[in-house]
Amino acid sequence: RRPIYLDCDTGIDDSLALAYLLASPEIELVGVGTVCGNTSATQAARNTLDLLALAGRHDIPVAVGATDWLTRPFDGGVPQIHGPNGIGGIQLHPSGAAPADEAAAELLIRLSHEYAGRLQVVTVGPLTNIALALTTDPTLVDRVASVTTMGGAALVPGNVTAVAEANVWNDPEAAQHVIAAHWDVTLVPLDVTLENTLAEKDRRQLLQSADPLARSLGEMLDFYFDFYLSFYGRRGCALHDPLAAAIAVGGIRAATAPAVPAQIDTTHGPGRGQTVLDLREQRHGPVDHPGCRTRVVLATDRPLGPHLVQRLTS
Ligand code: BDR
Ligand code: CA
Repeated sequence: RRPIYLDCDTGIDDSLALAYLLASPEIELVGVGTVCGNTSATQAARNTLDLLALAGRHDIPVAVGATDWLTRPFDGGVPQIHGPNGIGGIQLHPSGAAPADEAAAELLIRLSHEYAGRLQVVTVGPLTNIALALTTDPTLVDRVASVTTMGGAALVPGNVTAVAEANVWNDPEAAQHVIAAHWDVTLVPLDVTLENTLAEKDRRQLLQSADPLARSLGEMLDFYFDFYLSFYGRRGCALHDPLAAAIAVGGIRAATAPAVPAQIDTTHGPGRGQTVLDLREQRHGPVDHPGCRTRVVLATDRPLGPHLVQRLTS
């Protein structure tokens, strides 16, 4: 089973990504790092530990990572989207488990030695921890098999500014560091995550599941669905983070994912946080640019929603 390290800002859709990974027999989740984003890094770790406890997975280490972004202090997160505690305000049974006594970047570096050449990194929050790990140990790139990142907006508007997606917007310098490093990065941008959704009938299925983790996900989605009402014009939500997880696992395949020149706008003007991708040669179908190691997923082979609900409830 392929080892996966997850870096997240848990978060309602982060919780879906975590649960999807736990339910995937193809992989083994070997560690989780948290970062500030949707909520504080500490609260994200609390949420993660409580969710893991619901799944009976006390064995997976959870390390608290960056409590601020590289060039900006944490701003308090987005309680209007993910609730006051990051998980829609629901109260999970407190697991009592403590986070690891190493930072997320240290955990990642340690796991990269333990699983050298095989470790897959999945990030569904700002890229601060990964950038910090690269700064501490630039040889990390040689031991990580791949990086799959929920982040960016290729041909669609941003969701924080006109051009910037939240995970990149929160720490553009970190995102730039990660995509400039010499390793294989797959960006899963808003272009595809907004196209993959859950609806009220899916939430009902989660609520009716025999699995306590699935039921808690159904409960927290109530809050997320309210937020997305104005976006989609119906109750439901985008599947940002679980799509990155499913692509990393291989449960969903990228149908179109060219390797292209990619950089992040780190200026302080209106373009800050934009994923600047050179897609000029993609008019007649996907073309890989020689030497480019950042792929951008522009289409998937099938919708995630039904596959996700099936994995979470069986
Ligand atoms: C991303 O931002 C966060 O709020 C979500 O959890 C997701 O990772 C979507 O832009
Ligand atoms: Ca997230």
